Amino acid sequence: MTKDELISKHKQYIFKCVTTYYKDPLVIDHAKNQYIWDLDGRQYLDFLGGIVTISVGHSNDKVTAKIKAQIDRLQHCSTLFITEALVALAEKLAQIAPGKLEKCYFTNSGTEANEVAVLTARMATGNYEILGLRHGYSGHSQLAKSLTGMHTWRKGGVIPYGITSAPGPYCYRCPYTLTYPSCDLHCAKDVENVIQTSTSGQVAGMLCETIQGLGGVVVPPPGYFKIVANIVRNYGGLFIADEVQTGFGRTGKKWFGIEHWEVEPDFLTCAKGLANGVPVGATITRPEIADAYKGLMISTFGGNPVTCAAAKATIDLIEEERLLDNAEEMGTRFRHGLEVLRERYPVVGDVRGMGLMQGMELVKDRTTKEPATDLANQILERTRANGLIVGKGGLFGNVVRMSPPLNVGKADVDQALAALDQSFAEVTA
Ligand SMILES: Cc1ncc(COP(=O)(O)O)c(C=O)c1O
Repeated sequence: MTKDELISKHKQYIFKCVTTYYKDPLVIDHAKNQYIWDLDGRQYLDFLGGIVTISVGHSNDKVTAKIKAQIDRLQHCSTLFITEALVALAEKLAQIAPGKLEKCYFTNSGTEANEVAVLTARMATGNYEILGLRHGYSGHSQLAKSLTGMHTWRKGGVIPYGITSAPGPYCYRCPYTLTYPSCDLHCAKDVENVIQTSTSGQVAGMLCETIQGLGGVVVPPPGYFKIVANIVRNYGGLFIADEVQTGFGRTGKKWFGIEHWEVEPDFLTCAKGLANGVPVGATITRPEIADAYKGLMISTFGGNPVTCAAAKATIDLIEEERLLDNAEEMGTRFRHGLEVLRERYPVVGDVRGMGLMQGMELVKDRTTKEPATDLANQILERTRANGLIVGKGGLFGNVVRMSPPLNVGKADVDQALAALDQSFAEVTA
């Protein structure tokens, strides 16, 4: 099929809500390592990675070899049977997860991983109510949408019963108009007021992304999670760290985002980068919590041997190639370059992120902070024209998001920065 045919049939046969980037949608033909190619053979440097999913490069040779070997050995059997691929991955996850988190339930997506965590927290605590955060994103099921803190992702059919959102730790647009550190972490302490005033006073838990990705790469201030996790536990709840975007080295130096804040969560939920692009979801918790799950549960494709082989191969490669260190080193280099762009272009109001998860919030005016949504769209168009793929997010769609594979090198980082520089120069000329 030609590109035009594909675009037109996509429009004809796919739900309209499945939006695509760019005025002229990008039809991808193939990808390898840090590059993707469109149908016309144009090459792009991928600084989005699907959406924060390609951990070790597209179609990584080592991961692909393990996937192929597993397909030839056993492709499917469901969780009714035991396989080496499933057990080996679960054991590996128990080794790298913080503290005593050592029991896993596998599903197919981040949405399901969050569903499992919430349901298990309810069963383990005997409480029902769950807290989320404004500007958070938790997935596309009705429960996950209810936990999501942006109206754009909450249209129709949410089931908000038993769900309460707390104001988020969004320092650039502080909901209390305070400034860190003189704010004394008011946003964290206020979670107690939220529980006291908007719940029955007994909660099942709180689910937080350790960095809000779709919300615009919102990084909480130091100390935030320690206070929040304590408060939630004091009111009978469990602390669920959504590591769907931040897991597996994305934030540099550590396996999981929450480890930067020295908090041991009660649950980790994972997906995306865990299997380098093969559909996966995992909920990891302590044995006594996992075993409190009552009744039967099955996931036809959860724990699929091919998925597990891909995930184990991805983790092994991150370890072998010391990619936690590389993500930190390249993240620091990239961040430095983004700060230079902030100095150069007044439309860049804020630069934030950790490791190789970085964002730039674009504003029309640095004083009013009016979101520059159109400009973010123009940046996406220009970066594409300049051979670079980046993403966008934020409640107002004005945050440029970047999350390249963890094994990018200095040349890739510098190329991305040059393409961004050129794109900003073009749209602000
Ligand atoms: C933080 C977070 N949690 C959950 C999800 C849902 O994951 P999935 O799209 O795999 O269902 C996403 C997806 O973007 C996410 O970013």
